[in-house]
Amino acid sequence: MQHFTSVQDVADPMVLVKKALAIKKDPFANKALGLNKTLGLLFFNSSLRTRMSSQKAASNLGMDVIVMNVTQDSWQIEMEDGVVMNGGTAEHIREAAAVMGQYCDILGVRSFPSLSDRDADYSEKIMNAFKAHAGCPIVSLESATLHPLQSLADLITIAEFKKVEKPKVVLTWAPHIKSLPQAVPNSFAQWLTQTDYDFTIAQPEGFELSEQFTKGAKIEHNQEAALKGADFVYVKNWSSFHDYGKVGTNGDWLVNQAKLANTNEAKVMHCLPVRRNVVIADDVLDSEHSIVIPQAGNRVYSAQAVFQEILEAHG
Ligand code: CP
Repeated sequence: MQHFTSVQDVADPMVLVKKALAIKKDPFANKALGLNKTLGLLFFNSSLRTRMSSQKAASNLGMDVIVMNVTQDSWQIEMEDGVVMNGGTAEHIREAAAVMGQYCDILGVRSFPSLSDRDADYSEKIMNAFKAHAGCPIVSLESATLHPLQSLADLITIAEFKKVEKPKVVLTWAPHIKSLPQAVPNSFAQWLTQTDYDFTIAQPEGFELSEQFTKGAKIEHNQEAALKGADFVYVKNWSSFHDYGKVGTNGDWLVNQAKLANTNEAKVMHCLPVRRNVVIADDVLDSEHSIVIPQAGNRVYSAQAVFQEILEAHG
């Protein structure tokens, strides 16, 4: 594995899921693999799970970790090429990424979209700049359009909890008060369509995701119909892709116990953080349906499987 920024960097997603599950059984077995290796974690945006699980995964592999909250702790970085830097930016990404690559064996980067300029967001300028200039493997800690470490953890969780060989998995849109990225649902769709699971995406009209990620999924605009017989219900808000960044507040799409009545005793997933009683009701989050905590726990083994693949490939 050279970089890890989408499912396309993975030879076989289900083989990586099996590797993560084996790591989970014996997390310290490869403590020597990361000896004298350094993981850099760069955050342009907030994080709880990604930051802590990546640090723990690196520690399990014996790696040292440097964490930087880029927008607070570093110089303001210029992303555009060919500009006269006589404004607020003090250092160009070409030097910043290259220097960080001198200090680190793997760099993790989190950079959210603006949600105001779709073409710019979907060009993945920041992630691609790190790939071009850092000179070391880059791991996405959530980019403008994708969150592959989350999706790998999601597949690990489904593999652990599934009761049938090919479960019905439904990704359902839910309301929110803010404009949120499409990265988690894009990525989940991209990974799920690589499996042989029965996969449906449910969303109100106007909240369809980019077809580049959903090709192969069934699409529904009726949440009740979509949820019928589901084994897993993955709940997530996203802002509109087509009316780019538009917030969706339709409370009819909140997921509560009543919505689960016609499912196959579905397990409910969410990447977290989740706004209770806006996105998912208390009566689901506090019930046996919810597997959001073990799902978040699996972020450690998702990150550890990816770091281990990269360390094994690069020596
Ligand atoms: N799910 C997830 O990526 O959580 P954080 O934003 O807290 O890292």
